[in-house]
Amino acid sequence: MNLSQHLEKRRAEVEAHLDRLLPPENVFPETLHKAMRYSVLAGGKRIRPILCIESAAAVTDDLAGIEDLACALEFIHTYSLIYDDLPALDNDDLRRGKPTCHKVFGEAVAILAGAALLTLAFEVLTKLTRPMPEQKLRIITELAAAAGTPKGMVGGQVADLEAAGQPATPEGVNYIHRAKTGALIRAAVRTGALYAGADADALARLSRFGEHLGLAFQIVDDLLDVQSSAAQLGKATGKDATQQKATYPAVYGTARTQAIAQELIAQACAELAPFGRRARVLEEIARYILQRTS
Ligand code: IPE
Ligand code: IPE
Ligand code: MG
Ligand code: MG
Ligand code: MG
Repeated sequence: MNLSQHLEKRRAEVEAHLDRLLPPENVFPETLHKAMRYSVLAGGKRIRPILCIESAAAVTDDLAGIEDLACALEFIHTYSLIYDDLPALDNDDLRRGKPTCHKVFGEAVAILAGAALLTLAFEVLTKLTRPMPEQKLRIITELAAAAGTPKGMVGGQVADLEAAGQPATPEGVNYIHRAKTGALIRAAVRTGALYAGADADALARLSRFGEHLGLAFQIVDDLLDVQSSAAQLGKATGKDATQQKATYPAVYGTARTQAIAQELIAQACAELAPFGRRARVLEEIARYILQRTS
């Protein structure tokens, strides 16, 4: 099996499990469940769940039950997208190639679908039957911090909104990107490692890998907003400039931004050296993140 077949297999497994964990559409209140399923099953690269699984695979062959943890990450991520698109935030009409959740179901149901996805994520996490209670608690605590504030997604989103229209600074954009996007990606990698029982050294290395990768991911997202198209991305482009967002291209220009992303990916991959072949897939994902077009 080559790498793209391997990733496709992982993605299909994640999709099937997301479907199993989501409430059925025909259960009352149907509108809420339709909205949750609509946004989660709309497509998406499933980068966070796959990173979580591959991080665990860099440590152990025993991945039993990890798909619950992987899907919890995707529920938190999809909730963040539904909120990010709301009129009060980025006010977007297109996501994952489809009309945004609030466009289809209205703002009230979109907000509540996001809340239900965040809640579902933690319900799924509390039901994990592995690893041992101590690691499980650590996994849940880390995901809560990555989703919340001050160093997590919600904190970053507020800073992102407040920075719009102001002169962007290196410190400001560094905080925003690490918090709004980097934290959850880092947590995907770290919680996969914790699930797998990584020792302190492996955890520290994977942690730094996830940190560099997470920042690079949002930097590339900024570049794609400048350089790509809605048809390619499945979401509107050119919006960061219109909304005067604090982005890496706004601070550094596109050429320097590209170089920063490259450097971060090189630093991320350097952390994987001691894992040898076990981390080959993680390394490929890191390279893909730099070259991705969607
Ligand atoms: C988009 O994330 C929002 C960011 C945090 C940059 P993705 O690019 O992972 O979006 P999907 O999940 O593939 O739709
Ligand atoms: C959003 O950043 C990060 C999230 C936490 C959802 P963006 O606002 O740049 O994400 P896109 O470009 O709309 O996907
Ligand atoms: Mg945003
Ligand atoms: Mg947005
Ligand atoms: Mg963006």
